[in-house]
Amino acid sequence: MSDTKEIEDKILSEISKIKSLKELQEIKIQELGKKGRVSILMRSLSDVSSEEKKILGKSYNELRVNILKAFESKELEIRDADILNRIEIEKLDVTLPVRPGNDNDEGKIHPISRTIDNIIDIFSNFNFTVETGPDIENDFHNFTALNIPDDHPARQDHDTFYISNQDNQERKLLRTHTSPVQIRTMINKKPPIRIIAPGRTFRCDDDATHSPMFHQIEGLVIDKNINMGHLKGLLRAFCEEFFEVSNLPIRFRPSFFPFTEPSAEIDIGYNKIGNSIKIGQGSDWLEVMGCGMVHPNVFVNCNLDPEEWQGFAFGLGVERFAMLKYGISDLRNFYEGDIRWLNHYGFSTTNSPNFDFKED
Ligand code: PHE
Repeated sequence: MSDTKEIEDKILSEISKIKSLKELQEIKIQELGKKGRVSILMRSLSDVSSEEKKILGKSYNELRVNILKAFESKELEIRDADILNRIEIEKLDVTLPVRPGNDNDEGKIHPISRTIDNIIDIFSNFNFTVETGPDIENDFHNFTALNIPDDHPARQDHDTFYISNQDNQERKLLRTHTSPVQIRTMINKKPPIRIIAPGRTFRCDDDATHSPMFHQIEGLVIDKNINMGHLKGLLRAFCEEFFEVSNLPIRFRPSFFPFTEPSAEIDIGYNKIGNSIKIGQGSDWLEVMGCGMVHPNVFVNCNLDPEEWQGFAFGLGVERFAMLKYGISDLRNFYEGDIRWLNHYGFSTTNSPNFDFKED
């Protein structure tokens, strides 16, 4: 027995010193192979009486199992250390400055991302937080809860991509606007609410001014005693900040959305000189966003009492804001992925607003 213990201790201490998988393999063959100490012990069993064989056999077997286990855990230990070591040496330091070289070496921030970051930045200074929602929605969040029931004519205005219905499950669609995030927020959070929701939206449309995928930013404010004056003040301040024009000519033109009442379209004053647009001067009007006071039916659909809460919502198209601010004339350029275009219209990564916008 003491022999066995001694052999076990010796082999275990040898295993504990192993540093590499190669070394481990060699020692494993040496110790457990035909000429190894364990095999020699096993073979010696043929010379002993059957009584002794029972006792010795059991202890030799335990020895073998213990040694095998020790080899296994050593192997795991080496492999883990190897992975940690690789993570350490293969680490990429994304904070290092780019090496000087030609333009293509440095990534550029896409004007759409830049515009979204910029708008988030402005609204976060107004104390708004960011909410997101899924691209694939259901009828309830995209239409019904927004006071657009099945037979409502407004459904025709949204050329919707439906996702084929499998196994009689609920019909899914690609959201046609960011307004479903209003609904999700009102259902999941208690007012007061002060959020904006940037994200992708989809409609079956494709020409120089429409893309089947585009971006919107939704806004929602719910509190007690909120009125249209708050909406006007906030959105005027936002437009002046975004277009960097003080005393921007702005008008709220009556409009219709099923989920707001009253509803308005916001126009800003501009002037066209040759091919370029000058915002904030001249006598022409440019439509930039939709807005209105949240319809009482929308509150009810979200289990909120319209007698207790009021609020307003607004929605804007990111592409339109980007085109106006950066003088981009064809919407399709945004999605062509032409590196020359991005080098010209994109933004350096070193002087952008510090915002990390993630979609879920
Ligand atoms: N969801 C509307 C659209 O896509 C925009 C909007 C949002 C209008 C919120 C009013 C209030 O056209």
